[in-house]
Amino acid sequence: MTSAVSIEGLGKMYRLGQRRDVHGSLRDAWERLWSSKTPVPSGEFWALRDVSLEVAEGEVLGLIGRNGAGKSTLLKILSRITPPTVGVARIRGSVGSLLEVGAGFHPELTGRENVYMNGSILGMSRIQIRERFDEIVDFAGVEQFLDTPVKRYSSGMYVRLAFAVAAHLEPDVLIVDEVLAVGDAAFQKKCLSKMDDASRGGRTVLFVSHNMAAVQSLCSRAVLLERGGIVVDGSPSEVIHQYMGGQSALSGEHAWDLEGAPRSGLIALRAVRVRLGSGAVVGAVACSEAFGVELEFDILQSDPRIGMTIVLRNSEGVPVFTSLSSADPEWPLVSRPVGLYRSTCWVCGNLLAEETYSISVVFWSDNYQLSLSEQDVLSVSVEGPCRARGDYMGRFDGVVAPVLSWATSAHTIDDRCVSGEDTATQG
Ligand SMILES: Nc1ncnc2c1ncn2[C@@H]1O[C@H](COP(=O)(O)OP(=O)(O)OP(=O)(O)O)[C@@H](O)[C@H]1O
Ligand SMILES: [Mg+2]
Repeated sequence: MTSAVSIEGLGKMYRLGQRRDVHGSLRDAWERLWSSKTPVPSGEFWALRDVSLEVAEGEVLGLIGRNGAGKSTLLKILSRITPPTVGVARIRGSVGSLLEVGAGFHPELTGRENVYMNGSILGMSRIQIRERFDEIVDFAGVEQFLDTPVKRYSSGMYVRLAFAVAAHLEPDVLIVDEVLAVGDAAFQKKCLSKMDDASRGGRTVLFVSHNMAAVQSLCSRAVLLERGGIVVDGSPSEVIHQYMGGQSALSGEHAWDLEGAPRSGLIALRAVRVRLGSGAVVGAVACSEAFGVELEFDILQSDPRIGMTIVLRNSEGVPVFTSLSSADPEWPLVSRPVGLYRSTCWVCGNLLAEETYSISVVFWSDNYQLSLSEQDVLSVSVEGPCRARGDYMGRFDGVVAPVLSWATSAHTIDDRCVSGEDTATQG
């Protein structure tokens, strides 16, 4: 069988800038503790490593994997948006790609101009594009805005048009990244059925999605990426099964028996868990959901000031927050004799970005004397889409994603004159 896509030893390295030191307000001893343990940011980061893959003509390949696994990076290299650092990627025939908002379309050009520009990039004549034009516009539902520069489009309109172009211009290879994350249910259904048509028409499709149902129903084969490398390649159900199983490796719990427990003279740590309000122990939580970090420990010697701290770090090792039990004003007033305890720190919903976080735990005694420190004892995956995004699907920066309130009021020109005079007299 002929390969439509042929990838050999592909790798992509990004150079990272120096990271700022994020902590600063803790006591000296604490700072020493943290800084000595915080992973030192290295200058190089391999987003893809040693990827080799053959995709046969007419195959519909689903690419799945956690946030940051390298899926988009692979599609960007195939679409020639970014070059690989090592290795080669060959594609037979024309490529239509729908990546994130911003890729593929020129913001200053109108919808109509972008359709023609994309068509000619795909090697089509004006006549061929004209033949498909009405169908594209109809599919995208942007008729009224055809002569508006696409930079004025909403993200939903933009993606609808981009998808319509990518799918209707009938490239040999169709590359689609997460388009289903935006758009209403009806449009998602239309996209899926269009991709299905493309594959039935013999076209090769590469499809990245976090929607396992879509991957299952659409793809003939799937590949699981982890930390930039392929870990499973097989039938969609097999690969999805492995992926979901791997997710539960984030079991939501790290427990120790009495002998194996990390300990000091004062404390033995018996378990760290992530729990929902319902009591369920989970490895993954929705962005909007509050969750508790539960510490189970033996107090081996009474100490009225015994307390604990948790630190959540993101996948780059940046401490996202620190929380101390002594932030609770009641904390020092309760006596804690020898025995087994459980303390839970509740993390509110709509705070953290879509990421996998590692949890570190510190126990201290009177005057914040370090008793026990356990780094990265448990991971929790916070899964989107987070509400802070609204319906925007593009790149979304930030180590946190709080849902903040917005206020907008309309003002007449008169209002502005009045406030202008006020400023003048005050100044
Ligand atoms: N321009 C860049 N500079 C530095 N690092 C980058 C850049 N682009 C991507 N990365 C990093 O490369 C890794 C892979 O990113 P990529 O976007 O391919 O992941 P993904 O599998 O598409 O994730 P998601 O499911 O969140 O879309 C991530 O750790 C990301 O932070
Ligand atoms: Mg991606």
